[in-house]
Amino acid sequence: MADSDLFTPYRMSKFDLSHRIVLAPMTRCRALGGIPRPAMAEYYAQRSTPGGFLISEGTMISDTAAGFPHVPGIYNEEQVRAWKKVVDSVHAKGSIIFCQLWHVGRASHQVYQPGGAAPLSSTNEPISQRWRILMPDGSHAIYPKPIALNHSEIQDMVEHYRRSAINAIRAGFDGIEIHGAHGYLIDQFLKDGINDRTDEYGGSIGNRCKFVLQVVKAVAMAIGPDRVGVRISPAIDHLDAMDSDPPKLGLAVIERLNQLQLELGSKLAYLHVTQPRYVAYGQTEAGRLGSEDEEAQLMRTWRRAYQGTFICSGGFTRELGMKAIADGDADLVSYGRLFIANPDLVLRFKINAPLNKYSRKTFYTQDPVVGYTDYPFLDGRKQKLPSNL
Ligand SMILES: Cc1cc2nc3c(=O)[nH]c(=O)nc-3n(C[C@H](O)[C@H](O)[C@H](O)COP(=O)(O)O)c2cc1C
Repeated sequence: MADSDLFTPYRMSKFDLSHRIVLAPMTRCRALGGIPRPAMAEYYAQRSTPGGFLISEGTMISDTAAGFPHVPGIYNEEQVRAWKKVVDSVHAKGSIIFCQLWHVGRASHQVYQPGGAAPLSSTNEPISQRWRILMPDGSHAIYPKPIALNHSEIQDMVEHYRRSAINAIRAGFDGIEIHGAHGYLIDQFLKDGINDRTDEYGGSIGNRCKFVLQVVKAVAMAIGPDRVGVRISPAIDHLDAMDSDPPKLGLAVIERLNQLQLELGSKLAYLHVTQPRYVAYGQTEAGRLGSEDEEAQLMRTWRRAYQGTFICSGGFTRELGMKAIADGDADLVSYGRLFIANPDLVLRFKINAPLNKYSRKTFYTQDPVVGYTDYPFLDGRKQKLPSNL
């Protein structure tokens, strides 16, 4: 591995990637009423390269899944048809794209719920007032009290993931990523700082892992393990997602995924882990793990434990990405904010060109152009990628 860098080709399950730079999943709130629109086809196509790998923004698995304005869904036919156009535009540029399946759980509000109901979670306890939810009118509100899912509602939720995965494949996606990170529904089951259940989904670490494992298994059996990625963030406390022992929790999930891969007779596509230095929202999400060295060591431990493709995310620059690949600390590196502002990030990294700066103000607005498809390419919009990318 020592002579590998971000531009060394890589085989991820059945997919031949020409480089290691991945578009991280990013909510952009441009899908009016939950339906992907043409600007999204342009946005994703702009960030596509031959043999590149993109992960879509978090995409709702049901009508109870949203916690941001205008996020896309993949649970009805109109959404599937609209996504198909986005996926086709990415495939036309030669990239591979997975759909990130998302349920926010208690990180929602009555305004985003059918009939103004309370959001659903592993618990009846709300997210603390340290955090605020973005409302449809751009204001911020406190998170309301959720309702804990009962046993049969948990099985329904697994079914929503399964059906959404099938829909994603019908829309032409090459695979799906299960969003088990950042304090959303699956993380609300994993973390002992949130999960206060006394049934078989709470208490022991094995019980807390049960929901994510059921989801992964159901989805993998429906569309094939090699089309399924899983994202976790055991050491990130975003939205109060704290755990008393993040290293152990990470290893527990990883050991179970390894075991599931043996059971299914095939590896999953990848495991995607967010590094504790993740600061996407402007606050420090440093977890409680101390220094950068300790954080890197933690990621290394998980990387070595997982038997399959490992993607890192969170605060990576070109140099840090090069180093992570060269040191064998990751197979692929996903980039978020740098990719928002630099549609041709792959080319810029290749030739070590200067980068555009991102504007946080337009991360979650609805304009189909401003802060979305209007970030400049290096040399005008017709910039061609070198043929060896
Ligand atoms: C605007 C924005 C939206 C995001 N939305 C999602 C999302 O929908 N799903 C997800 O798993 N992570 C999401 N993230 C986290 C990113 O995938 C990524 O891990 C994070 O930005 C750290 O990487 P970076 O330092 O390269 O930006 C989001 C980040 C940003 C900045």
